[in-house]
Parts: sequence; structure tokens; C-alpha cells
Amino acid sequence: NWTMAAFKDQAIAKIRQQVGKGRVICGLSGGVDSSVVAALIHEAIGDQLTCVYVDHGLMRLGESEQVVSVFRDRFNINLIHNDASDLFLGRLAGMTDPEQKRKTIGALFIDVFEEEAKRIGGADFLAQGTLYPDVIESVSFIGGPSVTIKSHHNVGGLPERMNMKLVEPLRELFKDEVRALGRELGLPDEMVGRHPFPGPGLAIRIPGQEITRDKLEILKKADAIYLEEIRNAGLYDVIWQAFTVLLPVRTVGVMGDSRSYDYACALRAVTSTDGMTADFYPFDMAFLGRVANRIINECKGINRVTYDVTSKPPGTIEWE
Ligand code: XMP
Repeated sequence: NWTMAAFKDQAIAKIRQQVGKGRVICGLSGGVDSSVVAALIHEAIGDQLTCVYVDHGLMRLGESEQVVSVFRDRFNINLIHNDASDLFLGRLAGMTDPEQKRKTIGALFIDVFEEEAKRIGGADFLAQGTLYPDVIESVSFIGGPSVTIKSHHNVGGLPERMNMKLVEPLRELFKDEVRALGRELGLPDEMVGRHPFPGPGLAIRIPGQEITRDKLEILKKADAIYLEEIRNAGLYDVIWQAFTVLLPVRTVGVMGDSRSYDYACALRAVTSTDGMTADFYPFDMAFLGRVANRIINECKGINRVTYDVTSKPPGTIEWE
């Protein structure tokens, strides 16, 4: 794609011009936007870039390992992987309210990130994966809706507090263009085509109940099976987002000759163009039956599977 190659060269020149000999810090989340920003800035300024991956322990199966192996091992980027799962899970202990969970995770995330930024002696610039729709949205928010449905996760206040300027090389791009740029930079397809994943991670997919390591393990396994089946069916790219929710209810079942009393889980899959509205995905029943069978057979702790047929509105995509 020659236009994207040209955009890449221009973007690299602009970054070099803006940053000079300065140091840049970038928060990696494993998502598409921050991954592309990191790879692009690294190509422009190499070791002047340090990436920080704050691992809250609420990522999907194998995701943290993948971030480290791609960025540190393959791209040779200076990457700090802060495994803060004990800290996050400790702070979340006993917490069940969705907004309280979101705010706790968001605040702690900034604390850990800031601590790492200080540890490396600070930076002149903070890199962010702001896209064109984000730029538009923040303008149209003036006089926009005043009701907060869910508090979102961002680094609000940090650049000013640490006296850093922003580097936002994706400001002119839409999501599909960011993906094309990512491919141009040699990021793995799997990473570039990835479904959106919320900042608070799996914490908001264990709704209405305390988050524990045991529940996280069960949820991660079920989620991996569901996504594997979706990929095998060739549906991953048709679907905007798909995930499993571990429900705060146990139900009675029968396994072989014995009674089981385990968690129920819900499967969610939606189509959407921007996440603002969404339709549930009309899987065929044979597919759902296959996923349910695998989850119940392979995930100790789950004995019942349901499918969420709510669209947005009136539902939201995530359960919390
Ligand atoms: P909802 O659940 O509000 O989600 O319909 C819309 C989209 O936003 C994602 N989401 C988040 N993304 N930080 C994020 O970066 C968050 O706190 C957050 N909460 C929800 C959600 O996964 C969906 O794609």
C-alpha cells in the first residue's frame, strides 16, 4: 500500500522534527492504537523511546507474554513490564460496584505509570494513540451529553503534572488506517486486527461480584476457547468484539453421575462500526452449542453457558 508507506515516512519525519534529541515515554496496552504508536515512534527515534506496560493482571490469556515478546524481543524496544497484578487485585479485593472498580483501576494505573516514568528519570514527551474520531469527539463533547454512563480510563492530568508535551502521530487517522499503518510497520496481523479491549480489562467482565485470581483463571480459559472457535469459524473479523462474562451465580448441573454446582457464564458478540451502537451477532445454534460444550468440558468451574442477545442501546457492549 503505497499511500500508507508515504504516510509512514511523513509521520516519521514529523516525529523526528518534534522530538529532536528529547526522550519519549509511551504507555503500551497491547491494543492496536498504542502498539502502532510505539512501533512508529521507535522506527523514528529508536532508543529515545521507552515503553511502559502496566500489567494489572486483568488481561486475557497469553496477552502480556505476547506484548513482551513482540515489543522487547522482536522490535527491540526499551520496554518496562511492570507486573502490578498483586497491587491491583489487592486494591480491588471485596469491591463489587462497577464505577468503583473502574475508578480504582484508572487511578492506580496512572500512579504506577507515573512511578515508572519517574524511575527512568522522566521524559520530555508522552506518546498517545489519539485517533481522528477522538479528536472530533472531544470537540463535540462541548454541550454534548452530560450523563456519564461509564467512566473511561485515560491518563488525564499526567502530561501537565510531569511537564511533558504530547506526541500524537495518529491524530489524522481512522481505525482502519491505523491498522494499515500497523501492517506497514510489520506488526503481527493478530495484533493489528485485534478486537477492542477495555482499559479496566477482565475486572468488568466479572460483574457484581468480587474479583479473585480463581475467577480470573476460569474466565481467561473460557474466553480463550470462545475466541478460538470464533477464529476457526472465520468470524473474528466480521465481529466487532466478542468475549465471555463470568456471572455472579452458581447453578446446579449434572456431570457423569454426580451433581455439580458451578458458575454460569455468558457469551457476548456484537457487530458495530464505532462502538456507539451495536447489534448482537446472530450465530447459528450449532456454533453456540459447540462453544458451550467445550467451555463446560474444559473449564473447571463453569457448568452453564448462555448467549447475550441484547443490542446497544439499550444494553451497553460490556456488562459493567
Ligand atoms: P460500552 O460497554 O460502553 O463500550 O458499550 C463501548 C466500547 O468501549 C469499550 N470500553 C472501554 N474502552 N476504556 C476503554 O479503553 C474503558 O474504560 C472502556 N469501557 C468500555 C468497550 O469494550 C467497547 O468496545
